Amino acid sequence: MRSSESLRRLVRETSLAPSQFILPLFVVEGEGVRREIGSMPGNYQLSVDELVKECEKTHRLGVSGVILFGIPTRKDECASGAYDDNGIVQQSIRAIKAAVPKLVVMTDVCNCEYTSHGHCGKIVDGDVDNDATLEWLAKSAVSHALAGADVVAPSDMMDGRVGAIREALDEAGFDNTPILSYAAKYASCFYGPFRDAAESAPQFGDRRSYQMDPPNAREAMREIALDLEEGADMIMVKPAMPYLDIIRMARDSFDEPLAAYQVSGEFSMIMAAARNGWIDLDRAILESLTCIRRAGADFILTYFSQAAARLLG
Ligand code: PBG
Repeated sequence: MRSSESLRRLVRETSLAPSQFILPLFVVEGEGVRREIGSMPGNYQLSVDELVKECEKTHRLGVSGVILFGIPTRKDECASGAYDDNGIVQQSIRAIKAAVPKLVVMTDVCNCEYTSHGHCGKIVDGDVDNDATLEWLAKSAVSHALAGADVVAPSDMMDGRVGAIREALDEAGFDNTPILSYAAKYASCFYGPFRDAAESAPQFGDRRSYQMDPPNAREAMREIALDLEEGADMIMVKPAMPYLDIIRMARDSFDEPLAAYQVSGEFSMIMAAARNGWIDLDRAILESLTCIRRAGADFILTYFSQAAARLLG
């Protein structure tokens, strides 16, 4: 059954298509800004005008959507840029929805890009205060929905955030806005290049008190179950490649749509090896994404969205 491509195609168990991809994009203030991220070749910090062009291209390639990360010029103690109705992400959503209304616009709901200390929440007595942070997250999610976001995706890993966001969205009249919860998000070294890109590395300590401990698998199922109880419509496992077992467990345990995030470090490792001539880039892109799908992900957040769509097209 493997002797020809025609036969292999016939019995292939896993499909890969551009409709299964979401492209992460970084937006900055200004105009005409297109600043390449050193550790993530081919990815840029974009001003809103350039971001819209990138979204048009992404849509033309058949990719389903984008997820936005904002990098404000001014950061403060209370992450005010995160929930400002005229903040950088809110402006971006409006611009993208006006230019490419069919592109799914997801937003990352978190505070780390907006706080001067780089943590995902409010600092009280030297540590992130879970409950005080929920209010910021709920306000951010509502401001994103108001600007036209199709999906909000909380990535902060505070307890109770999905419930708080659901309640705030419903109260504001956005009962149709779905929540994609970063339900099983690990405290991973593979976010390194992203923190360069988003300028969000914590100024002190790390995120191990709120993100998950990599050795734990059963705990991920509890985290997912809790988020679903609180009203998550879709769930996510992150990172993807080192956590394929978690994706598989989640797929077997839950029926809701399941996303996986092929994170910055996974992208950068593949790019670096390819640039050294050590692996074939095109094959690595398709194989890594196919295997994430085989493990059970319905869709994938990946910096390779455009490249993979071209290869599949
Ligand atoms: C938090 C957030 C992070 C990523 C997505 N959302 C960084 C972190 O938790 O430190 C990482 C994504 C990647 O590495 O590609 N806002």
